[in-house]
Amino acid sequence: MSNILILIGTESGNAQMVAEAIEPELAGAGHDVRVTDKAASAADFAGHDTLLFVCATHGSGDIPSNMFPLHEALGRDKPDLSSLRYGVIALGDMTYQDTFCGGGKQMDKRLAELGAQRIGERLEVDASTQPLPDEEAVTWVKDWVRLV
Ligand SMILES: Cc1cc2nc3c(=O)[nH]c(=O)nc-3n(C[C@H](O)[C@H](O)[C@H](O)COP(=O)(O)O)c2cc1C
Repeated sequence: MSNILILIGTESGNAQMVAEAIEPELAGAGHDVRVTDKAASAADFAGHDTLLFVCATHGSGDIPSNMFPLHEALGRDKPDLSSLRYGVIALGDMTYQDTFCGGGKQMDKRLAELGAQRIGERLEVDASTQPLPDEEAVTWVKDWVRLV
């Protein structure tokens, strides 16, 4: 059993909806799961061995404002995250071609730079073709949870 922390980066609620949809899938597989939209530094990862980022993209490829401080703190503090595993669900819109899913991609890059091991491939959800990101995420997480 893993202790999974789902971290939400959202401006308008889609990532929150996705987190609420996948949480029961992970808990139902026997994992201990907590959800937060307030993590601000690596200290907030305490007690968890697995992180699952659900991160939207705003502005021009930017991390949502509630997750931006975490990205900044990790870049500044450079904690050793080699004992952690993580996954990324990136929400975006292909209409923004050049910055598609930039928020989730930036979080993914930062975690990898700090030594955390990604589990599986990143899910990238395109709002222009997939109006129900929670359904796509639930399908993805059923496979992802087998790798945890
Ligand atoms: C003002 C604005 C800017 C956006 N910029 C981007 C972007 O640069 N790249 C991208 O892939 N998606 C972009 N999006 C799409 C959002 O990431 C997408 O709609 C996502 O599902 C929103 O999730 P949220 O409701 O959790 O914030 C933008 C959306 C808005 C409203």
